[in-house]
Amino acid sequence: MLQLPPLSLYIHFPWCVAKCPYCDFNSHALNGELPEDRYIDALLADLELELPRVWGRPVHSIFLGGGTPSLFPAAAMDRLLSGVRARLTLAPDAEITMEANPGTIEHDRFEDYRSAGINRISLGIQTFSDRHLKTLGRIHGGDEARRAIAAVRAAGFDNFNLDLMWALPDQSLDEAVNDVEQALAYAPAHLSHYHLTIEPNTVFAARPPTLPDEEAAWDMQEACGQRLAEAGFDQYEVSAWARPGAISRHNLNYWRFGDYLGIGAGAHGKITLPAEDRIVRTRRKSHPRPYLKALEDASFMAEEKTLSAEDRIFEYFLNRLRLGEPFDVGEFSALTGIAASQVTPRLDRALALGLLERSGERYSVSARGNRYLNDLQVLFLPEG
Ligand SMILES: C[S@@+](CC[C@H](N)C(=O)[O-])C[C@H]1O[C@@H](n2cnc3c(N)ncnc32)[C@H](O)[C@@H]1O
Ligand code: SF4
Repeated sequence: MLQLPPLSLYIHFPWCVAKCPYCDFNSHALNGELPEDRYIDALLADLELELPRVWGRPVHSIFLGGGTPSLFPAAAMDRLLSGVRARLTLAPDAEITMEANPGTIEHDRFEDYRSAGINRISLGIQTFSDRHLKTLGRIHGGDEARRAIAAVRAAGFDNFNLDLMWALPDQSLDEAVNDVEQALAYAPAHLSHYHLTIEPNTVFAARPPTLPDEEAAWDMQEACGQRLAEAGFDQYEVSAWARPGAISRHNLNYWRFGDYLGIGAGAHGKITLPAEDRIVRTRRKSHPRPYLKALEDASFMAEEKTLSAEDRIFEYFLNRLRLGEPFDVGEFSALTGIAASQVTPRLDRALALGLLERSGERYSVSARGNRYLNDLQVLFLPEG
C-alpha cells in the first residue's frame, strides 16, 4: 500500500519584466498590463479542481514561484492566500515562500507581503557584479540587489534565501567567491548556489558565451563550498545551503519524493492516490493566454499521467540522490509502492562503482557519487 508523503502547494506566476538569456523557466516578458485579478481568479478556480484528490490532507508549504511573482502586489497575494486557506487546511507552521526579483520590488511592500502570510522570501540575486549582471541580461544592478536584501530584512524576514549563480561567462574564481562573501554579509538563512547551465532553446544556447572550463568550475565550487561551510551553512542538496534549522521545507519535500499540487500556467504537480494504487503527475497549460482562457471552462490541465513502476523508480532516485541525507529501501518502497528487491541490483551496482555507500540499511551518496551525480542517476533510468 502506498504511503502518503507530506503535501505542498506550488503556484506559478509566468511573467517577468524581461526574459533572461539563460532562463528556460516558463516565463514570458510582460507586454502590457498584468492581468492581476483574472490570474488570481484562475489560480483559485484551478485549485478547486484538485481539492477532491487531497481532501483532509494538511499543506505543509506553499511556494509562489516564477517567473516573477513579485510583479504581483501584496494585495493580490493576500487575496490568493486567503482563497487558498478557505479551500485547504494549512499546517499552523506552514512555510510560505515568495520568489522576488530585485528589479521588480517596490521596497515598501515587503511588510505587506508579510501581512498577507508570506513568511519566507527568495531573492534572485545571481551575482553582485554589475558587469556579470549585464552579461546575464538582468534588469537590476548590484546596488539594487543590495537594496532589495536590506528591504527584505527591514521588513522582518529572517528566513530569506538568496539565489546566486556561478561559473558565469568570463568569471574568475575570486569573483565567484566574492559573490558568496557579499551574500554572507547579509546573514541569509539559506543560499541557493546554482552552476549556470546552458539550457536548450535559450538565447545562450543559440549564442553560447565563453564559460569557465570544467576544472575552473570545479575550483569555484570547492572554494565557495568551503566558504559557506566555514560560515556555518550545511549543504543539504547539490545546490542548496542552509543554516541549521533553515532548510527549505518546500524544496526538501520535492527531493524526498513528496506530494505537491501544482497550479498556475505550466505548473507541474505530483499526487499519491493510495486508494487507487496510483501516483499521478499533472501539468497545466503553459502559455498564460490559454491558461487564462481556461477560466471559462476550467480546462487548465494540459496533461495528466499515471507513473509506471519504472517512472517511479527513476523519479524517486533522480530527486532523492541530490540530498545529502541517507535513505533506506523501506522509505523507497513506502513512497513508490515498489518492492525493494526491484532496485537491489541497481543499488549493488552503484555500491560497486563507489557512487553509493552503505551503513546497515541506510545508503548515502559517496563523495565520488556527488562529483559524478549524473553517472549515479542514470543507473536508475527505466530499464528495458
Ligand atoms: C524562477 S528564478 C527566481 C526568481 C526570479 N525570476 C529571478 O530570476 O530573480 C529561479 C532561479 O533559478 C536560477 N536559474 C535560472 N536559470 C538558470 C540556469 N540556466 N542555470 C542555473 N541557474 C538558473 C536563478 O538563480 C534564478 O534565481
Ligand atoms: S527573471 Fe527569473 S524567471 Fe524571469 S527570465 Fe529571469 S531568471 Fe527566468
